[in-house]
Amino acid sequence: MKNFYIKNYGCQMNVYDSQRMTDILRNMGYVSNSSIEKADIIILNTCHIREKASEKLYSELGRLNKLKKQKLKDEKKDIKIAVAGCVAQSDGKEIINRAPWVDMVFGPQNYHNLSKFIEKSCEKKNIKIIDTNFPVEVKFDFLPEEFYERGISSFVTIQEGCDKFCNFCVVPYTRGVEYFRTKDEIFFESEKLVKNGSKEIILLGQNVNAWKGKNNSGKKIGLGYLINELSKIVGLERIRYTTSHPLDMDDELMETHSTNPILMPYLHLPIQSGSDKILKLMNRKHTASDYKRIIDKMRTHCPDIALSSDFIVGYPGETDTDFEETISLIKDVKFSSSFSFKYSVRPGTPAARQKNQIDENVKSERLFYLQSLLNSQHGDYNKNFIGKTLEVLVSKKVKNQMTGKSSYFQTVYFDGDEKLNGKLVNLEIIGSSKNSLTGKFLNIKEN
Ligand code: 5AD
Ligand code: SF4
Repeated sequence: MKNFYIKNYGCQMNVYDSQRMTDILRNMGYVSNSSIEKADIIILNTCHIREKASEKLYSELGRLNKLKKQKLKDEKKDIKIAVAGCVAQSDGKEIINRAPWVDMVFGPQNYHNLSKFIEKSCEKKNIKIIDTNFPVEVKFDFLPEEFYERGISSFVTIQEGCDKFCNFCVVPYTRGVEYFRTKDEIFFESEKLVKNGSKEIILLGQNVNAWKGKNNSGKKIGLGYLINELSKIVGLERIRYTTSHPLDMDDELMETHSTNPILMPYLHLPIQSGSDKILKLMNRKHTASDYKRIIDKMRTHCPDIALSSDFIVGYPGETDTDFEETISLIKDVKFSSSFSFKYSVRPGTPAARQKNQIDENVKSERLFYLQSLLNSQHGDYNKNFIGKTLEVLVSKKVKNQMTGKSSYFQTVYFDGDEKLNGKLVNLEIIGSSKNSLTGKFLNIKEN
């Protein structure tokens, strides 16, 4: 019996890719092992979005070199090391130059050939597999149809790549051009996941709300229509989608939030900056007031929508005044959760060539200030739920407590039986912090 170990870095789309690679490996007879030391094949599914992720990869590869040598010496076993994902796509052969003990390097659009890569690599000692071409074929057409249990909440990638070309971002270069899976393909995969026990589907895409497809009569449809179609799957209790772009937030999708009871009231809509000057330099193609208009409209359709966003501080050319505009937008909108980052230079992107880079200390100070404000908003948002009843989809046991997500995507902990896993339960909220809530079990939601 051969074992595999996949270490995942980065976003939810990488988690989905790792799951699909797991399906391929299981079909080849490999068994998933939680111990990296026992693995015959180790795959690092990498992320390139910010600096630290690729640094982490090279230090992990250093550790794996030692493990590979040890295994060869002690057990005469030649373990295979593969680097997949976005660093593989951008660094390609350079990875083998820096870490010659790596056997395979392949990008996010090539992993459907994983079984061929492994076969080739096992056939000949010292052969190196490098595949970072953007293939003409689409990986989804070649991935195995049978897949294994995913859990209560499952990801389904419906859109990949990006044509927006924000000046700071590597995604258009690592994931390639925008691609949409068809309605039927998405329906089929979601239905199977629900049959396998999933209660929630999270639709994924770098620009998920840009999704376009055709209905059965060949008419063009968008994400709102797709969500309504998926809601017909018997046993599916919740639908979410992420990540959205302000330019693609159409009326139909916003309306779906008010008409479709299983579409959850949560929207992750990155703005990056509150300054129009910086948004222009970033090539975001929207202004701060465009963003606020969308939020206002969204709130008229769904008054209780929980809003989340991404922010970058210290983008080249960002002045104190630009930063203050971001702060004032945050105060205006009020977010229930968020992600914020210091701008990091990504080689090959237009922003990397800008001369007016911001001092690291200034970036750190701005990030600290921005996160303090956001954290206090998140804390206030959660505190508001104390004494109220929330519906929670229970998904796992953590230490001695059960946990799950509220409709608004808050993590809620409560004392309860493990049999509640996969159930929608009503909890009375009795405690809160900026990151989570505590609840008291009331009852299981009746269908
Ligand atoms: N520097 C800092 N943050 C970045 N992001 C993307 N590229 C960079 C970069 N070069 C952030 C954006 C994006 C999120 C996924 O990562 O906020 O929305
Ligand atoms: Fe990157 Fe911008 Fe595309 Fe998002 S919209 S993936 S930030 S280029």
